[in-house]
Amino acid sequence: TRAARLGRPVVLVGMMGSGKTAIGKALAARLGCGFVDSDAAIEEAAKCSIAEIFARDGEKFFRARESEVLSRLLDAGPRVVSTGGGAFLAPRNREAIAERGVALWLDADLDLLWERVRHKSTRPLLRTPDPRGTLARLLEERRPIYAQAPLRLIARPGDSIDTTTDRVLALLA
Ligand code: S3P
Repeated sequence: TRAARLGRPVVLVGMMGSGKTAIGKALAARLGCGFVDSDAAIEEAAKCSIAEIFARDGEKFFRARESEVLSRLLDAGPRVVSTGGGAFLAPRNREAIAERGVALWLDADLDLLWERVRHKSTRPLLRTPDPRGTLARLLEERRPIYAQAPLRLIARPGDSIDTTTDRVLALLA
């Protein structure tokens, strides 16, 4: 694929629930390269969960760790990296990804995102009285920023992980 030829990491960006981790794993398997989830790498380094980091150290601290981890992952050769939903928002992260990787936005609509996150309580940003409303607001704020990614895949509600991964591979070809 073009990305593999360029030897650059493919970086999946997009909202919570857009499928970055599931698609990232499947994509790495198909490309025969490594996969890293930046949230998991942060948790490993901090030895505690994202929710605990938010509660104990605050979002600002989490964002600083996220930038460090992302930068490190971008230097480790061709691979698939899935990011947390907020990672692409910081200009310095976008610049780092543009310089050293290729960003691919998994663009899913509100209904699909909500369906995927509604039963999970692991996302600190959605611990609000109206989590669906919060998700909608975040999506509106963030869409124009995600749209800066050079590659975009529009998620289709009924599609399996395999089908979506095929479509991602076609985008990268
Ligand atoms: C966040 C998304 C989460 C995680 C953190 C903040 C966000 O990752 O990084 O809770 O700002 O959208 P996922 O997108 O993997 O849920």
